Amino acid sequence: MAGRVDGKAAVVMGGGQTPGETIGNGRATAEVLAREGASVLVVDREMDRAEETVRAIKEAGGTAEAFAADVRSEEDMRRTVAICIERWGRIDILHNNVGMSLALGDASATDLDVETWDRIFEVNLRGMWLACKWAIPEMQRQGGGSIVNVSSMAARSNYPYVGYKTTKVGVVGLTEHIAGQYAKDNIRANVILPGLMNTPMAIEPRAQLTGDRQQVIEERNARVPLGKKMGSGWDIAYAALYLHSDEAGFVSGVSLPVDGAAGVGR
Ligand SMILES: NC(=O)c1ccc[n+]([C@@H]2O[C@H](COP(=O)([O-])OP(=O)(O)OC[C@H]3O[C@@H](n4cnc5c(N)ncnc54)[C@H](O)[C@@H]3O)[C@@H](O)[C@H]2O)c1
Repeated sequence: MAGRVDGKAAVVMGGGQTPGETIGNGRATAEVLAREGASVLVVDREMDRAEETVRAIKEAGGTAEAFAADVRSEEDMRRTVAICIERWGRIDILHNNVGMSLALGDASATDLDVETWDRIFEVNLRGMWLACKWAIPEMQRQGGGSIVNVSSMAARSNYPYVGYKTTKVGVVGLTEHIAGQYAKDNIRANVILPGLMNTPMAIEPRAQLTGDRQQVIEERNARVPLGKKMGSGWDIAYAALYLHSDEAGFVSGVSLPVDGAAGVGR
């Protein structure tokens, strides 16, 4: 049976993951796209993390290659797209997953310093734009493509750290711009807004801060309306799979919450 993204060439930025006990959004997305028939270029600043994802994909019989690149570098983004074209002749899917908050030293509007503000913008927002900047011309040439930019429900809620909050709102603006401007080229662009997730990126820094992982998990589970349980990287991956597949062929410019009803009414 054909996979849902059979024959497509995909780039997953941030396709490795923060070490931890569960699967991250980026790794799960790379694995699901590969399982459904895509050839996946797994891109990460940390090559060993990308290679770990590729290993899992290959063990499951999929096609993937690891590539080390930093979304802060325009040259790296240019090369990433070029490598995908070199390997598979096209780029059908661009999945922009890189994003950080506490790990970059984020803080409240009054506590943040200028260098940290710039650093967060460089990673969370400028990096997504740079990847789009180099992927879009190829998608135009080949007659279309799908872009998903990963934001956060922080964009729609009262979030304590200004860098993350502001860049994640920016991701929505960037994506809507692309959806509107390049619709004529059959390029779709959508946002995923993850809510409270049980992923290493969310759990590990907070567990380190409090010294009690179980308490962090229980407290976050309690805040999720649907089943009183956080989502997993797989929940984000399946939303991404739909948006990147031809099933979503008439869906562009939307921001899809994957948050267990936490954002109802927002
Ligand atoms: N995990 C959550 O709970 C949660 C909640 C809301 C939103 N999100 C969003 O989901 C995305 C990430 O989720 P995840 O679970 O995959 O995180 P993750 O930390 O497990 O994976 C992100 C990967 O990006 C890589 N990376 C970091 N900086 C990079 C750079 N400059 N260039 C290239 N690669 C870089 C990291 O090495 C890591 O492997 C982010 O956009 C985040 O804001 C996550």
